Amino acid sequence: MKRQANIKNLAEFEGRELELKAWVSQFRSSGKIAFLVLRDGSGECQAVLSEKTTDGESFKLFSKVSLECLVQVQARVKKWKQGFELEVLSLKILSPSPDYPIAKKAHGVDFLLTHRHLWLRSKRQRSLLKIRSEVMRHIHDFFQKEDFVQVSAPILMPTASEGTSSLFSVDFFKEDQVFLSQSGQLHMESASSALSKVYCFGPAFRAEKSSTRRHLLEFWMVEPEMAFYSLKEAMELAEQLVEYVIQNTIQNNSSDFGVLKRDIKKLEKIKSPFPKISYQEACKILKEKQPDFVSGKDFGAVDESLLSASFDQPVFVQKYPKNIKAFYMKEDPQNSDLSLSFDLLATEGYGELIGGSEREDNLDILLKKIREHGLEERYFKWYLDLRRYGSFPHSGFGLGLERLISWLCGLEHVREAIPFPRLYGRSFFEKQAEE
Ligand code: 4AD
Ligand code: MG
Repeated sequence: MKRQANIKNLAEFEGRELELKAWVSQFRSSGKIAFLVLRDGSGECQAVLSEKTTDGESFKLFSKVSLECLVQVQARVKKWKQGFELEVLSLKILSPSPDYPIAKKAHGVDFLLTHRHLWLRSKRQRSLLKIRSEVMRHIHDFFQKEDFVQVSAPILMPTASEGTSSLFSVDFFKEDQVFLSQSGQLHMESASSALSKVYCFGPAFRAEKSSTRRHLLEFWMVEPEMAFYSLKEAMELAEQLVEYVIQNTIQNNSSDFGVLKRDIKKLEKIKSPFPKISYQEACKILKEKQPDFVSGKDFGAVDESLLSASFDQPVFVQKYPKNIKAFYMKEDPQNSDLSLSFDLLATEGYGELIGGSEREDNLDILLKKIREHGLEERYFKWYLDLRRYGSFPHSGFGLGLERLISWLCGLEHVREAIPFPRLYGRSFFEKQAEE
């Protein structure tokens, strides 16, 4: 296929003419000379129309140009500052864009969210999408490099894995119970008994009625599951993954971090091994910071922010009380009140990035815990089979993609970390026709 000209590869056309289709993202004129900022999927560049070089009809057509209309230019490529600009010979408007709703002025978040399908075209959002794509690529690279097999987890699930209070149920031909998956973990445990080191990477759904800056109803999670890994080994894998993804992303996407005005010096310092503290030690730190803090509960957003702000590296909190964690986490053989679990908290107050554990591999203990958690045994028969036939020690964790991107990009809210956010309290998503 013939290589098409695009804004990213203008250098290949220096001094020559080309034809380009692009959207207009800015325009201004001072009478004899007019400027366009053109954008295609690959980048942005300036295009100059002047009475001297642009044909008369095209020059007149400039008055019809509007924000986000699609144009086609015939132009000569010239060196300009550190890059290139287009000297326009002729201009065509291929598709108009009257009254484009997103203007230069600042819009409220609600307006932008209902116009998310158009908001994505803005410079900041494009950089965020590129960083997200890069982060996903490095996650896959990391696991492939470590000899993991990618296994797809199902989305329609017969059971809860992360508590029954945050399930989206599905109208499944009116038969039995079916939910949208909260996590691919349980099925990765099955795959791990087949292939030892596996991971899934896909959407997860949580019907959490929380409008915090960290919660989405639909988010993406990468979940490795490893046969014969201890809690310690799972934490080592988690810190290597985080370091690998951060260092590769900031190296490859420095101009996008520039668009976001994100100071990457703080991220350059993220190097494993990360500090590791016990749940009890975390409670001690929190008691010093908040005299009314009560231990024995799971940490809230404020607690996590306080903890993570106390370290300049991400910090592992390990061995949470078993009664506040999921049914599948293994009991600590040294203290049956505790679970062999961990959370990894990001720096700068971003809170929980990863949750993981060693899994309960004893059939009787697991069965007891399923009952204690009020879960119906019959739906877990298949999961218990993994302990019935060649049970094996194993561990795994889940990393929330949008939490990672929020932290990396220094976002105020997780909603910008996903192309089309699904948020509690917004039952319509993109714009709908006014009644
Ligand atoms: O801690 P969680 O609930 O752990 C699990 O789901 C395990 N089954 C994972 C595993 O061991 N395979 O979720 C894991 C991560 C959290 O640390 C957080 O980063 C992210 O998923 N997460 C959310 N991200 C955005 N919105 C939400 N509502 C989230 N809930 C969890
Ligand atoms: Mg968690």
